[in-house]
Amino acid sequence: MANTVFTYSIAHGCPKGKRDLAGLLRPYPVRTSRLAPNAPGGQICRLAAARAAILRPRTRCASRETSVYIKEKLDALGYCEVEGVLDTDMATSITADLGPLRSLNGKMVQTIHPRESSQATSKSFSHHFGHEAFPLHTDTAFWPQPARYIIFQMSRASPTCSVVLPAHQTMRLFKSFQARNPVFTRKTTSGACYSLPWHGDNLNCVLFDPCLMRPVNNAAAQLAKALEDAFDQAIPIEWTGSKALIVDNWRSLHGRGPAHGSDRTLTRFYRG
Ligand SMILES: [Fe+2]
Repeated sequence: MANTVFTYSIAHGCPKGKRDLAGLLRPYPVRTSRLAPNAPGGQICRLAAARAAILRPRTRCASRETSVYIKEKLDALGYCEVEGVLDTDMATSITADLGPLRSLNGKMVQTIHPRESSQATSKSFSHHFGHEAFPLHTDTAFWPQPARYIIFQMSRASPTCSVVLPAHQTMRLFKSFQARNPVFTRKTTSGACYSLPWHGDNLNCVLFDPCLMRPVNNAAAQLAKALEDAFDQAIPIEWTGSKALIVDNWRSLHGRGPAHGSDRTLTRFYRG
C-alpha cells in the first residue's frame, strides 16, 4: 500500500487526505480562510482566540466521532494525526478510550524539546543523538511491557517533523526476520536481559530501541540495519500547530527529523 498522509480536524469534524481508506474522507472546508482576511495585521493572538472559540464547543460535540476516527486509523495505519488539538487536556480527552494513563519517571505528561547531547540525561535519545535525527524506535522499551500508545501534542508549529513507520510496514519487516530468531540484549528496569524484538503472542507486538538494545546474533544485526534503513521510508509528520499525533507503540515505530535551530516543544503521554 502506498504511503499516504491522513489527518483529521476536530474543528470540522471530518477527516482530510488524499485518498480514502474506508470511504470516510470528505472535502475539507477551510474555515480559517474566512477569518484571515478580516484579521487585523499582526493580531495573531486575536486570530488564535477567535479560532479557539470556534474549536472548543465543536470539540465536545465531535468527541465520539473523533474517538471512533482515532481507533479506525490506529487499526488501519498504526498512527493517527488529529488537527485542532489545542492543548494536553484536549489530547487527553480525545484519547480517553485508548486505555489508562501510564506515568514515566513519576510524570503523567512529559514536556520534550531538542537538547544538546551534553545537556541531556544519559538514558535519553537526545543524549545519544543531540539535534540529529532520532532513529526509528519503540518508546518505553525498557518496561517489561511497553506502553501501547504514545500521544504527542504540539500547540505551536515547528519545522522539525516526527516520522512514523506505519504498522503494515513495521510488522512486515519484523515478520521477515521471525524465523531467524534475532536476539538482542536489552536494558530494562530490572536489569539487562536477552530479548527478542517482540513481546506477546504471535509477533503482534514488536519492540526496538537502538539505544537500549544490542544485537547478539547476525539476524539481530541485520534487523537493526534494516530498521535503520527504513527511516527513509517513514511518513513525515509535520507539526503545523494545535495538533496531536497518536502512535500505536506496539505495531509502529517512530522517530524524529533533525532539529537544528528548531524551537520545538512537544508534550507527550502514554496510554495502555
Ligand atoms: Fe520516542
